[in-house]
Amino acid sequence: MDRGDTEKQARIRDRLTSRTTSSTEDIYFSIIKAKIRPVTTLLDIGCGTGHIIVQLAPLQQRTFLCGLDISPAMVRIARVRTKEYGNVSILEADGLNLPFADGSFDIVATRLAEFAPAEAYRVLRPCGLFFECGLGPESDKEIREFFSNRIIEENFCLPKHPNRWHDEIAAPVEQTGFAIDEATDHKQYDYYDGIDGVMDLIEMVPLVENFDRDIDRPIVEKLVEKYNTPRGVRITWHYYIIQAHRT
Ligand SMILES: C[S@@+](CC[C@H](N)C(=O)[O-])C[C@H]1O[C@@H](n2cnc3c(N)ncnc32)[C@H](O)[C@@H]1O
Repeated sequence: MDRGDTEKQARIRDRLTSRTTSSTEDIYFSIIKAKIRPVTTLLDIGCGTGHIIVQLAPLQQRTFLCGLDISPAMVRIARVRTKEYGNVSILEADGLNLPFADGSFDIVATRLAEFAPAEAYRVLRPCGLFFECGLGPESDKEIREFFSNRIIEENFCLPKHPNRWHDEIAAPVEQTGFAIDEATDHKQYDYYDGIDGVMDLIEMVPLVENFDRDIDRPIVEKLVEKYNTPRGVRITWHYYIIQAHRT
């Protein structure tokens, strides 16, 4: 059986990343971009459809970028997306068991994906940089409001301790031996394209138990009515970015 995201999730993610008005990636992307040098090797663990790699690829032709994902469906889409770049390689592999020698990369990045901090540490060269982007407790609060009794908590991967969540996310990184340079959290809105855009978001993760586009439509209509704006349906993204380096 395939691991990681399914074919359906991969298709929806691809559709959403090209259609949603998103500012959530901008900060993460610009932090990484600032660290890219002409001869950098970068690994993106759980690269999904490759939309972060595809933004970095044209910047430095001599930089080698590797995207890795466990889902064959994601890997297929990421390969198509990045095919014009000779400096990109997309691998189907497990983020918990990286198929690289020790010290292979200058930068390891991961965003909203399963990974093992010890493996990220191992494949980084000494003083190599690590970037992690994950979700903070207020993410998707509009969906929680309307589907409060059907939220699939484990798919949210939110911190378990809302009052001391900064410590919670830093602990595994520090315990591995990384030195944290900065940990920040950011609250922004993404704007989804009407009822269908919100339904895509719910199904992509998936966020809601037994979600059915027809049966649940009236609930989504109410959500859209409450949070619609001229830019689209406003959904909160709360995320953190950890910047660390291998000691
Ligand atoms: C929420 S998506 C994020 C994708 C991408 N990083 C982004 O920011 O758009 C999570 C991704 O992690 C992948 N994934 C889940 N478990 C994984 C694992 N053990 N190793 C590598 N990738 C994994 C999924 O297949 C999926 O593509």
